[in-house]
Amino acid sequence: MHYLKSTIKAEPLIWRWYAWPYLISPATAACNIVGRHLKIMQSYVQNPKIHAQAVEDPKMLGGPFIDLEGEKVNEIKDLIEDTKKNCQALIALCDALRELDKMLLNEAKGGSLEALYDRVPTMLRGMVELVYDLNSHPSIRLIEPFLYNTYYDTSHQEIALGNITGDFRKFVYSTPRINQSDEIYLKIPFSDKRLDSLFRHKYEPCELKSVIKLFNITAPEQKLFESFFTTIEPRRNNNNYQEKGVRVRYFGHACILIETDCVSILFDPVISYEINNDISRYSFSDLPDHIDYVVITHSHLDHVMFETLLQLRHKTRHIVFPSNQNGGLADPSLKLILQHIGFTSLLNLNELERVEFKDGEILTLPFFGEHCDLNIQSKLSYCVNIKGKKFMLAADSNNLSEPLYEHIFNFTGPIDMLFLGMECEGAPLTWTYGPLLINPLSRAFDQSRTLSGSDSNKAWSIVEKLKCKYAYVYAMGQEPWLNHVMALNYSPDSPQIIESNKFVAKCLAAGIESERLFGKKEWVIDYCE
Ligand SMILES: [Fe+2]
Ligand SMILES: [Fe+2]
Repeated sequence: MHYLKSTIKAEPLIWRWYAWPYLISPATAACNIVGRHLKIMQSYVQNPKIHAQAVEDPKMLGGPFIDLEGEKVNEIKDLIEDTKKNCQALIALCDALRELDKMLLNEAKGGSLEALYDRVPTMLRGMVELVYDLNSHPSIRLIEPFLYNTYYDTSHQEIALGNITGDFRKFVYSTPRINQSDEIYLKIPFSDKRLDSLFRHKYEPCELKSVIKLFNITAPEQKLFESFFTTIEPRRNNNNYQEKGVRVRYFGHACILIETDCVSILFDPVISYEINNDISRYSFSDLPDHIDYVVITHSHLDHVMFETLLQLRHKTRHIVFPSNQNGGLADPSLKLILQHIGFTSLLNLNELERVEFKDGEILTLPFFGEHCDLNIQSKLSYCVNIKGKKFMLAADSNNLSEPLYEHIFNFTGPIDMLFLGMECEGAPLTWTYGPLLINPLSRAFDQSRTLSGSDSNKAWSIVEKLKCKYAYVYAMGQEPWLNHVMALNYSPDSPQIIESNKFVAKCLAAGIESERLFGKKEWVIDYCE
């Protein structure tokens, strides 16, 4: 009998690019194909040497440069042609969205919008409502389910399987995948149920022959595919917590597992493969057999990591996530995204709603900032009230308005343990949202509207207002198994490190237990009646 090795990475790709939420929703996918993928690839073909030099420069980390040593010009030329052919409808959809937006900006000056419906580009007709806000600023409301119905196509989704021996992986958002001889590409939709059985075989033994048949692995690929399996039983680590208290495990970044003997809740899953080096970590083997609630704080790619989510889908009972600002291009529905990658039992929540279970509840709370002042509502922080203890998962909340936490306190009372991201100097707007912009933003505005979290003063104010007993900095992207998605390279002089050090020192001086989390940590909180 065989098991899938714990070192096998499973990267979801679409059109050969590492998949993230904005590549699922058709409107945002359309804009990213045109404004990111094609742009980067065309620039590489024109000047591969500049790309090769830029990826060597630490200051350019995470920039729009293809990391293929400047040597794959023909392959990228072919991929440009494939993209133009395979994504024809989406490329036209991007043009239609831009055309409609420009028409509205020029024509909608406060008068009736009715006459403009006849001028909506054909491919968007019946899928958009034209609206004003109360200041007569026009905008488009997309009926997203119609867009999925017409433009969503899974035929270019695939899972790249390969063995990894260390944490280092190249940054994936600027470089498409060119076939590698040490990888196998399963050409199946992300929602395909066969993936659940594959990932189940990390812990449940299988007949190798039947897995080979299930995925139609061809004869030349068989040897490599077989090498992804082992006869050695996987390690387990006290997986299903059965004591009376509450066990909390930090898996790295914003991934926190809270367990009691009757419920397990996993936040923002990003889980390391089993790599043996000097950084100890939890891995897939440290999770319970079933996760009652997988909880997503917001739709940034380091918090909705498809690569981990797909590997956990078979053991997830419910997935909890924030509702979006219905119809806005920059805020696609997480519900539709998660549904289309195969999740069921979706719990779509607004602020100050509750999910109740035997030992307590999850209360949803407002999450301000970190989204470049765009009207993006798919973001929540959470308070888990469990066995009389309160845990607040604030993700990348930027404390833009201190009184917010006075209002929150009225709903939560004192918080026992706070987890807060402090990436206080985040990337500019264009890094994530650039391809969605209709008109370019000036550099000054772009630099002023960032994906920034709280600095030390803002973070301290949260601790004071919520009367926290423990306050941990998390979600800093520092674990090396995040480097392929985060592109961060902090030094002791980086503002994010200086500010989080200051915050930790201030907490400790006030008798509040605090640290900047890294790698792994476990807390067991005894139950008291
Ligand atoms: Fe974020
Ligand atoms: Fe984040």
